[in-house]
Amino acid sequence: MFDVSEIRADFPILSREVNGKPLVYLDNGASSQKPEVVIDAITRAYKDEYANVHRGLHYLSNLATEKYESVRGIVARFLNASDENEIILNSGTTEGINMVAYAWAMEHLKQGDNIVLSVMEHHANIVPWHFLRERIGIELKWVDIDEYGNLNPQSVIDAIDKNTKLVAITHMSNVLGTIVDVKTICHAAKSLGVATLVDGSQGAVHMPVDVQEIGCDFYPITGHKLCGPTGSGAIYVKAERMEEMRPFLGGGDMIKEVHKDSIIYNDPPMKFEAGTPGIVQTIGFGVALDYMMKVGLKNIERYEAELKDYAHERLTALNWLKLQGQPDNKGGIFSFTMENAGHAHDISTILDKKGVAVRAGQHCAGPLMDHMGITASCRASFAFYNTKSEVDTLVDALHLANDLFG
Ligand SMILES: Cc1ncc(COP(=O)(O)O)c(C=O)c1O
Repeated sequence: MFDVSEIRADFPILSREVNGKPLVYLDNGASSQKPEVVIDAITRAYKDEYANVHRGLHYLSNLATEKYESVRGIVARFLNASDENEIILNSGTTEGINMVAYAWAMEHLKQGDNIVLSVMEHHANIVPWHFLRERIGIELKWVDIDEYGNLNPQSVIDAIDKNTKLVAITHMSNVLGTIVDVKTICHAAKSLGVATLVDGSQGAVHMPVDVQEIGCDFYPITGHKLCGPTGSGAIYVKAERMEEMRPFLGGGDMIKEVHKDSIIYNDPPMKFEAGTPGIVQTIGFGVALDYMMKVGLKNIERYEAELKDYAHERLTALNWLKLQGQPDNKGGIFSFTMENAGHAHDISTILDKKGVAVRAGQHCAGPLMDHMGITASCRASFAFYNTKSEVDTLVDALHLANDLFG
């Protein structure tokens, strides 16, 4: 059974005060808080179990290697990959997408080819493709959302042409909360021989993910949004695609033999993990995913849907608050501006005085901001440890801001 008060007790930071008020942490889209089990695992890994991995034959090195390597299987289970060797461990989504750009796309795309993207993408799923535009002359094809923030899968499919080599689409918008029907897109792209990358940074946090069912080629995730440490993450790469990739970072661990005139790479996925990795971060990441799976990914999805509906009801009742996008299928991420208030930063500063942490700015989503014709918004993003009474505190704090500015 899902009991939010029990869940909250697992997160030490949730009982602290900010500016003399109980913390209401609604900046989960930027990064989530960490449960005690993860904090303990990090401490234990440094205190009792620390050594470098894959390199030594001594007890501690073997122990650290075993713990580190077990995370591959945990991620595979979390994403329902068919084989743990389809999981590359890394520092997060940004690294994952850059790896796809350098190790796969740089090898397979040529001048005149294109990549299909939505206007809702995070900069992490835009800038690496701009690198390819600048360096090899590919084209970026942008697909718009409708006035409510929906991304019609058919408009993505229709954008695919004979020069399209990759569709790179978010699973869930970090600004509007829009959940994209990535399964329909990926299956259609596959039938047209086009590769697919689904940015799972937000999607994997809020719903159970099955990469086999989605049918994507690449699915990057970020540990720090999944209750894990910063600098941890992974990317699912379908086995056939991994065979097509050339390593882009060279160094220790990714290599079997090095001679003056030749090298022999390690087998995948190790071939794509060069140098000493984030050992302790990755161990903590594995514990975080285990924790979330123990809470139950379906329980999390169900509880957050309830919370989102309640927040939607309360926020839409504020006629001076402008919600950005009200898509049909969305998660608990709300972006808004206020008619009377100046800048989003001013709103967030007032909310902060009430202990409410939200994000203000452009949310690393420049094309979406251009599309919406705004330069900044506030964003309240929920996690499974938030409550309806925290939604009420947010709404009270927004009233205060409106009174002050109004
Ligand atoms: C949709 C989306 N993609 C990519 C990223 C980048 O994640 P990271 O900075 O952890 O690599 C984020 C982070 O906010 C995100 O929300």
